[in-house]
Amino acid sequence: TCQLNKLAKEAGLEYFGTAIDNPSLNNQNYMRIARDSDEFGSITPANGQKWSNTQASQGRFSYGSGDAIANIAKETGQLLRCHTLVWHNQLPSWVSSAYSRDQMERILTAHIQNVVGHYKGQCYSWDVVNEAMNDDGSFRQSPMYRAMGEDFITHSFLTAASADPSARLYYNDFNIERCCNAKINATWDMLLSVLNAGAPVHGVGMQGHSRVGKSPSKREMKETMARFLQLVNEVAFTEVDIRHTSLPVGEAEREQQARDYVEVVGACLETPGCVGVTVWDFTDQYSWIPGQYPGEGEACLFDRNLNRKPAYSSVASLLQSA
Ligand code: G3I
Repeated sequence: TCQLNKLAKEAGLEYFGTAIDNPSLNNQNYMRIARDSDEFGSITPANGQKWSNTQASQGRFSYGSGDAIANIAKETGQLLRCHTLVWHNQLPSWVSSAYSRDQMERILTAHIQNVVGHYKGQCYSWDVVNEAMNDDGSFRQSPMYRAMGEDFITHSFLTAASADPSARLYYNDFNIERCCNAKINATWDMLLSVLNAGAPVHGVGMQGHSRVGKSPSKREMKETMARFLQLVNEVAFTEVDIRHTSLPVGEAEREQQARDYVEVVGACLETPGCVGVTVWDFTDQYSWIPGQYPGEGEACLFDRNLNRKPAYSSVASLLQSA
């Protein structure tokens, strides 16, 4: 057999994983692949655990969407990468208003204690803080940052650690794969500062969204990981997809995409401390890309009919030869 997680583990990674979103749960052909722990050893809820789903109105917590994905992991034994506690996006409007530092600290404490408490023991890892930095290296002006400055990051990690001491706690962001841009430098400085303030950050998640033919090279990504590993125990690629920027595509473009995927997985394989690779869903059918970037897409390892693409085969043979 040549399934990805099985090969990834034999090659020394902890897992090869995928995101799963709630609308796909009733697609049986999809679920047969998603639940196959030889194919995917880890799953990430694409939306179910986000703030707008777990606490849409203040003090009222709901876990239906998140649990639907978490229960799969319980049944199959797949790892659960929990995603995400504190993010400026998919944040209900009540959190977006102006709060004092103390009020925001209480809001974060309540949210994190409830959500992490609910999933306690189920999460292999938590993406505690997501996308706090801008590409130019400045802090994103989120409601959390406006109220608390970078202390919101320290506070979030401390609260998550006390609510589930066994989960690995990650800082997760995009455009931090290709060393060393302003965002990577600023992220490194931010992590050093919050670690010095006592934040238990265990890992850095590099999302890994990129474009065919323009995605970072293995060398660039290894350099980035080496830098983050000066600060934290582990790194991972958490949301990989590599999209075509114009459609339809032919065989040459698909082969380029296959080579681009190999760079990412290869960078992880060659970095002790890179624990795994997660794709941001495995089929073009459910990719977020066309919704966000009309006219772009086909970013995944499987096409929309669930056939394996050249990128799948190239990743599998890389893992097999590792
Ligand atoms: O749930 C509503 C539904 O009620 C409504 O009818 C429909 C109409 O637009 O929207 C639905 O919400 C959508 C939601 O996904 C759930 O499907 C939002 O519009 C849509 O914007 C949202 O997109 C998600 C996106 O995060 C939001 O920024 C994607 O599915 C999800 O894959 C994506 O994931 C993020 C990671 O969490 C963080 N890193 C970047 C990554 C890609 O953007």
